[in-house]
Amino acid sequence: MKNRLNAIITLVIISLSVNITSCDKKLHKPTKKDIIEFKVDSVLALMNIKEKIGQMNQYAGSWEITGTPSDIDNKTKLEKLKNGEVGSMLNVLTVEATREAQRIVMENSRLKIPLIFGYDVIHGYKTIFPVPLGESASWDLEAIKKSAKIAAQEASASGQHWTFAPMIDVSRDARWGRIMEGAGEDPFLGSRIAEARVKGFQGDDLSKEHTIAACAKHFAGYGFAEAGKDYNTVNIGESELHNVILPPFKAAANAGVATFMNAFNEIDGVPSTGNRNLQQDILKGDWNWDGFMVSDWGSIPEMITHGYAKNKKQAAQIAVIAGCDMDMEGRAYEVALEELIKENKIDISVIDESVRRVLRLKFRLGLFDDPYKYCNSEREKNEVFTIENQNISRDVAKKSIVLLKNQNNILPLDKNTKRIAVIGSLADDKDTPIGNWRAQGVSNSAVSVYEGIQNAVSKTTKIDYEKGADLGVGERSFLVPLKINKTDKSGFTKAVKVAKTADVVVLVLGEDAFQSGEGRSQANVGLAGVQQELLQTIYKVNKNIVLVLMNGRPMEINWADKNIPGILEVWQLGSQSGNAIADVLFGDYNPSGKLPVSFPRSVGQEPLYYNKKNTGRPYSSQHVTYSHHSDTPNNALYPFGYGLSYTSFDYTNLQLNKKAIKNNEPLFASVEITNTGKRIGKEVVQLYIRDLVASRTRPIKELKGFKMVSLKPGETKKVSFSINTELLQFYTANKKWEAEPGDFNVFIGGDSRTTLHETFELLKE
Ligand code: BGC
Repeated sequence: MKNRLNAIITLVIISLSVNITSCDKKLHKPTKKDIIEFKVDSVLALMNIKEKIGQMNQYAGSWEITGTPSDIDNKTKLEKLKNGEVGSMLNVLTVEATREAQRIVMENSRLKIPLIFGYDVIHGYKTIFPVPLGESASWDLEAIKKSAKIAAQEASASGQHWTFAPMIDVSRDARWGRIMEGAGEDPFLGSRIAEARVKGFQGDDLSKEHTIAACAKHFAGYGFAEAGKDYNTVNIGESELHNVILPPFKAAANAGVATFMNAFNEIDGVPSTGNRNLQQDILKGDWNWDGFMVSDWGSIPEMITHGYAKNKKQAAQIAVIAGCDMDMEGRAYEVALEELIKENKIDISVIDESVRRVLRLKFRLGLFDDPYKYCNSEREKNEVFTIENQNISRDVAKKSIVLLKNQNNILPLDKNTKRIAVIGSLADDKDTPIGNWRAQGVSNSAVSVYEGIQNAVSKTTKIDYEKGADLGVGERSFLVPLKINKTDKSGFTKAVKVAKTADVVVLVLGEDAFQSGEGRSQANVGLAGVQQELLQTIYKVNKNIVLVLMNGRPMEINWADKNIPGILEVWQLGSQSGNAIADVLFGDYNPSGKLPVSFPRSVGQEPLYYNKKNTGRPYSSQHVTYSHHSDTPNNALYPFGYGLSYTSFDYTNLQLNKKAIKNNEPLFASVEITNTGKRIGKEVVQLYIRDLVASRTRPIKELKGFKMVSLKPGETKKVSFSINTELLQFYTANKKWEAEPGDFNVFIGGDSRTTLHETFELLKE
């Protein structure tokens, strides 16, 4: 639907194009990008100051609150919408609601600048996919991209233009509740996954109606909260910031992510929301990124609580100058910016720049051509939660499962097993697999493990289900603290009874959906409540146990690792969870997932990560005075990159094609990998590099490549990696990304513990 503003813009464009082409026909055929810039400038020229500030203002709809409710009532919101003083709304759900809010703006405001609607579509809209940490365990970039694409299709069919995803905060701390929302501990894997998710959401053209704008969040350092406690202080040096935290953001920016969100945390005394170095100098300056930055929910006024601004006015001034273009539910920009401009505390050019960025995205989305283009109730009816999307969710889910232990090949189970006991608080839980940040995922709508097993086994198999005990009790929802059952063991007796007579017990334990996610940090990461006791009680009567671990964070499961023969890490897998788990339990799918994050032996090891520094005292078998805990080994229980298969793989013959290279000269590393087991299987072959001596100390190993190969029993394949010098770069003592001459080790293997390596030298220029 065209509007009056569009007509004016079209005239401006035509006249601009005519002027340009009449100067020089060959040079100045305006590109799509030029045309959008002309349009943005022509709209900007028509806007008054209130309208400009309005574009920098985002309100929540009253339907869903994902933060502290703001002090603005619905009547005021309505007036502001009518006056064109709102640029965006979040959490306005359904086509009907977005159409209505858009109508209010289009029919009442002077310039009729369409709203952009945002929502947290984190791992699916209504068809729910694995929580992002779990999905990252697939290391399957195509599958990850596909899941984001389906999420975008469903969200756009339901009126949404923009998702606040992907969350690409590197995190090395199992205690942090939001670790479930990211891609784990590694910046390289995190970067590739960030690109895949951005491309999945946005496609190759934002104006297409099945795509939505993505948002790289939280910029920056949010995953490094002290003690893994959400919103906590972050203290990191420049090296950590540039080498570990920023790479996924850079990758997202390069992939064309439309927006960024800043963060609640401070870094070294400066709240991210007011951090000019991050937002202005690095992102918009060095990286030349042209999208817009939204604050996190209320993070602008939170700078007052941080003790960084004395009031909203100062907070607004700091944030806008730092490069934060839109205020999410903080009400700081709307109350303060006009005055700040009048007082010459902010130059109008700063505001213009922010507004330009917001308008640019609205043009790219095609909202000026048709503000209602995502308001199609037919699409909403037909394209959401379809069978096809369920099938894709199941496919991604089974690829995300990680086999942690398989003693005596207890797995896969035989579909003709006579008697299976299915036990555990999460065994018939249809809600936990939906996970936290579930968008429109319907409560209790997932296929439970019990159901999945029922769907898979033969007619003659007898399945006995007993819960054993509850995990979460009482109300379970986004803003309500979860209560854990710590006392009620009344279901144990029945569970023991069915376990006694079973050929095999499938025990499903782990974490409730609302144990991880925002504000859900924990000081302990073991099996909560009475679950550990249930596990040990069942073990006393039947040792033939497969532990299905359902959780949103790495967990401490030492006892299970020592005693339980089979352990499957299934995360929270989304709508088709139970079917996907059964696919793996019964061998229809041979597990191929690898951990994107280290599992600790003890929570006291956290933060725990494979790409650590050597220190001056790495290990000694002779002395006490080396870097360690005296009661726990230094390594992880299950390390980054780890995951078993129903077959086995052998790595040999690692070769480099050269022993020394010059800058910009490629190097090739290859390895032979053989399937030494009896089943066809897929393996994620991982390449790690160590820079032995550098101007800043480097990690003992860093992931720099991975490839998935499929091998038949007995088959050998040669897998090669090209190592260009860009892969050797890091943020050096010169404060630049450079590759420094010297020796490097190249490792290839099936997880981060691999010792198979060769050495080469990068020569001086
Ligand atoms: C979260 C963001 C989220 C926003 C909007 C905040 O509390 O930190 O990640 O996008 O709420 O729901």
